[in-house]
Amino acid sequence: MAFPAAFIDELIARNPIEDVVGQYVNLRRAGSNMFGLCPFHGEKTASFSVAPDKGMYYCFGCHKGGGVINFQMEIEGLSYPDAVRALAKRVGMEVPEDEQYQSRYKAQERLWALHKEAARFYHSKLYAPEGQEALKYATGRGMPKSTLTTFGIGYAPDTWSSLVDAMRKKGYTDDELKDSGLVTVSKKNGALFDRFRDRLMFPIIDVRGNVIGFGGRIMNNKDPNAAKYLNSPETLIFNKRKNLFALNLAKKSKLGYLILVEGYMDAIALHQYGFDCAVASLGTALTEDGAALLSKYTDQVVLIYDGDNAGQKAAQRAIPILEKAGLQVKVLQMRDAKDPDEYLKKFGADKFKLLLEESSNRVEYQLNAIRRKYDIREDEQKVKYILEAAELICSLGSAVQREIYGHRVAESAKISYEAMKLEIDKAFKRRISREKKKQEQINLAPAKNLQPKARSIRYDNMKSAMAEETVLALIVKEPALLDQAKELNEKEFSSPLLGKVFAQLAERYCQGLEVSVGVLTDLTSEEMSHLAGILQRQDGPVNETALCDCIRTIRAEHQVSHVSSDDDLLALRNKLKERKGLKV
Ligand code: GTP
Ligand code: MN
Repeated sequence: MAFPAAFIDELIARNPIEDVVGQYVNLRRAGSNMFGLCPFHGEKTASFSVAPDKGMYYCFGCHKGGGVINFQMEIEGLSYPDAVRALAKRVGMEVPEDEQYQSRYKAQERLWALHKEAARFYHSKLYAPEGQEALKYATGRGMPKSTLTTFGIGYAPDTWSSLVDAMRKKGYTDDELKDSGLVTVSKKNGALFDRFRDRLMFPIIDVRGNVIGFGGRIMNNKDPNAAKYLNSPETLIFNKRKNLFALNLAKKSKLGYLILVEGYMDAIALHQYGFDCAVASLGTALTEDGAALLSKYTDQVVLIYDGDNAGQKAAQRAIPILEKAGLQVKVLQMRDAKDPDEYLKKFGADKFKLLLEESSNRVEYQLNAIRRKYDIREDEQKVKYILEAAELICSLGSAVQREIYGHRVAESAKISYEAMKLEIDKAFKRRISREKKKQEQINLAPAKNLQPKARSIRYDNMKSAMAEETVLALIVKEPALLDQAKELNEKEFSSPLLGKVFAQLAERYCQGLEVSVGVLTDLTSEEMSHLAGILQRQDGPVNETALCDCIRTIRAEHQVSHVSSDDDLLALRNKLKERKGLKV
């Protein structure tokens, strides 16, 4: 998407980063920078910084960073063009739209509107004569009218084309209906049919309030082979890995955490019983995208998966994904009911609250999982159980925790705490020696610490990459230095990312445009964060000699890696050493 560069410059100039960030974060000035609590990860001390002069933000805790457009993208979960549109709207600028994007955006808007109409249609059918059974079913499952309204629950009639007919009447074309995924096309004659028939309908609504798809539950078992739930297929506006059911409501919850469950019905029941922080994944396992979405709204997640084997496995898989997204995870094990919906209806909200309060942290949950793997009536298995539990316990940071869980395992295995402690200490020593070795390796190759975290931007030539980082930092601080760096070619950079950035900045400088991080386009959010990190780190004074040294290093490294024969290489090395005044 190419917005004109001059337009982006003006957009950035009229949206000072401290103002835009200030809408979300309480910023306090400290020197030339401003600090506040990071909106991207939970924290109690401010490690989120904004540098108004550089037009940049950077979090020292979670390492997110970038310019004002990138901030708008991250905080609102917007695409690049949508973030630009939002910032333009904020200051009343008109957006020069690219034709392709405009038509894509228009198509999206049509699909959102179509889905909203469809949701209205299904909802009205719930109260029509043909929806009698469905309404009875919903009521029978304990949903009062208020719940049906809040969630916009509806009924897809048991006919072939009532939705198709209704939407055509509203002016939607057959192509739009096909693109919506709400219809299926007959292979025989190309006729359109309603995808959802005789189902209780759950609209799926994104965090911006757009209806983007539906889940439909079968109500009677006329056809034993029919799927219990049918979901919208992936469309221009629906990606089931990137959305969560009921997050549009849960994001407003004051409870301070989010509950993640498996089923629509579970999320709805939780809201109904006062736990308005519940969301459900959309009939798939939790993905990294889903975890990232959750982490935008909370730093603590309570996982409630069904008590059956499949549910346990799903929970085990979800824990590391959530933790990787920086979330604290608690796990609630369902007892005496198959899922939260059933539990609430059987035992009520107060009992559920107790369950929530005693819901175990990750450690307890994992210890239980280890415990279940072994039959500890057999000695050999009991030993294995103790060893594996010791490995987990020794990894805990606090001595108090180690003692508490050590006691618990000792009790369950019916051994003395002293014996258990011995095993934990042994496991601890093994762990320390493993870590020591790891640390030694890191010390041997300190450059490893400077490697970007994202694999896609890893440096091949660390020496050159460090020089490249410094060049970028210098020219962002003092664009006039580009007069001397102009001769440097993008191709001489060892890191394609840094080279690309250099080329973009040099090009802008030549055209008399703004040279800063915020103006860069077509970078992923990982790349943007990496770049912001570089510029944040390099805070030395601007120095022409430093620039010349870096350019020399980049060129020399480039030559070394591009010579064709060993002889050439030797000659080159000698030349370099000579230049440094070393004896050959
Ligand atoms: P109820 O039986 O109505 O209480 O539903 P539930 O929410 O308890 O559903 P269940 O635990 O059986 O399934 C959990 C989730 O998995 C559902 O909400 C759906 O998103 C998904 N799911 C279940 N069955 C199917 C199916 O047959 N097909 C698809 N695509 N998804 C399903
Ligand atoms: Mn259920």
